[in-house]
Amino acid sequence: MEKIQGNMKSCLQPMAKILVSCRGIDGKNNALAVGYCGNCSYDPPMVMVGIVPSRYSYHIIKETGVFVVNLVTKEQKELFDYLGSHSGRDEDKFSNFNVKVEEGIKVNAPLLADCPVNIECKVVDSIMTGSHEMFIGKIEYVHTNKEIVDDKGNIDFSAINIL
Ligand SMILES: Cc1cc2nc3c(=O)[nH]c(=O)nc-3n(C[C@H](O)[C@H](O)[C@H](O)COP(=O)(O)O)c2cc1C
Repeated sequence: MEKIQGNMKSCLQPMAKILVSCRGIDGKNNALAVGYCGNCSYDPPMVMVGIVPSRYSYHIIKETGVFVVNLVTKEQKELFDYLGSHSGRDEDKFSNFNVKVEEGIKVNAPLLADCPVNIECKVVDSIMTGSHEMFIGKIEYVHTNKEIVDDKGNIDFSAINIL
């Protein structure tokens, strides 16, 4: 089969779709859609999220050093699209969309209550890769809906209708 040169941008597909939530030092909650993310250490457990410096959330995460990764279901597409296309710089997205929150146990950041899995993270490092800064988050606590875990806490991802 003949090969020709392809576009080099975002060529790992499909990309994950998560919502990263955070809380400013002024107490304002915010969240944004993130596709540049992944596991980056099994032990200790860590994930990374790539945030563009122009995002309102970027400065919050830089300043507070914590964030929450929220897994999103197909039913939450409207919420995902809204949080991924409006900026907390211009509006209070949580009030406008009536986003339900719960408090983190280990970090001072909101969990998106309707998401089936919420992963509390503390930033341990970050790398400015280019367009994005990759924040390496050490996982401090994972909240999961009771119905989707076994007795060891393993998440049954096939039970989540992931976006
Ligand atoms: C599918 C999708 C994936 C996105 N991935 C990223 C990403 O990986 N990093 C990023 O900084 N912004 C990403 N965005 C854009 C932000 O979510 C968007 O600019 C958001 O409005 C920023 O919100 P904020 O200014 O309140 O932080 C993505 C948006 C969509 C719709």
